[in-house]
Amino acid sequence: MNKAIDSAASIDNKTQTNTAATPANPMIELIKNRRSLNHFDPDHTMSEQEIARLVALATQAPTAFNGQNWHFIAVHSDTQKATLQQMAFDQAKVSEASVSFIIVGRLDIHRSLAESLQPSIANGTLPQQVADVWQGMADGMYGDNPTMQRDEAMRTGSLAAMTLMMAAESMGYGSCPMIGFDAEAIQQTFNLSAEEVPVMLVTVGREVAGNWQKKQRRPVSEVLTLV
Ligand SMILES: Cc1cc2nc3c(=O)[nH]c(=O)nc-3n(C[C@H](O)[C@H](O)[C@H](O)COP(=O)(O)O)c2cc1C
Repeated sequence: MNKAIDSAASIDNKTQTNTAATPANPMIELIKNRRSLNHFDPDHTMSEQEIARLVALATQAPTAFNGQNWHFIAVHSDTQKATLQQMAFDQAKVSEASVSFIIVGRLDIHRSLAESLQPSIANGTLPQQVADVWQGMADGMYGDNPTMQRDEAMRTGSLAAMTLMMAAESMGYGSCPMIGFDAEAIQQTFNLSAEEVPVMLVTVGREVAGNWQKKQRRPVSEVLTLV
């Protein structure tokens, strides 16, 4: 352990992250305060507008080539949440949360790339020539490579999940990411195509008493290599 590095990296070190003029950086506070909840208020419902806003914020996450190879299934009716809970090893928070998202990654990033890039080309953000180069690169990287397709689906879904959790935090909600689920059952029951992989569940809702506090992290000096 290197105490100097750990002290310099402390996220509680206000002199590094905050100034007198801006006493608390809201992003840092959100990062520090987010934690995985086990218990949600089962009586709280989220409006479809709030759910859509969460997804709009989640889709601000980056994706390779801006491929946006994701899909979000917002499970929020009582019956559908109960169905999903069964497929998530009966974890009660799936139903107690206001909404449980199935974050889906797509394997066909290269085949849907032109459509994904079209709006950026149309508004002049992305030159057509660059899009053409990216298409060639994506075809080469993913075309005959199922491992890369799956890796990309997982990266995309994971970045979306994290962004969605931070968005939830900013809207005053708590969340929990989950891999405890039967992917095959979800694939069939929620009608995912062969191109779609369930990457993670993310429950979102209003916090109630009885949740764990934020768990400790290993010191930075153990996980950081400076070269
Ligand atoms: C990929 C992933 C899968 C997880 N799966 C579950 C899960 O199925 N059930 C659960 O209760 N928590 C799950 N968690 C939550 C972790 O236990 C939690 O993030 C970790 O203990 C750190 O706690 P914190 O998020 O409160 O900082 C998962 C977290 C991640 C990142």
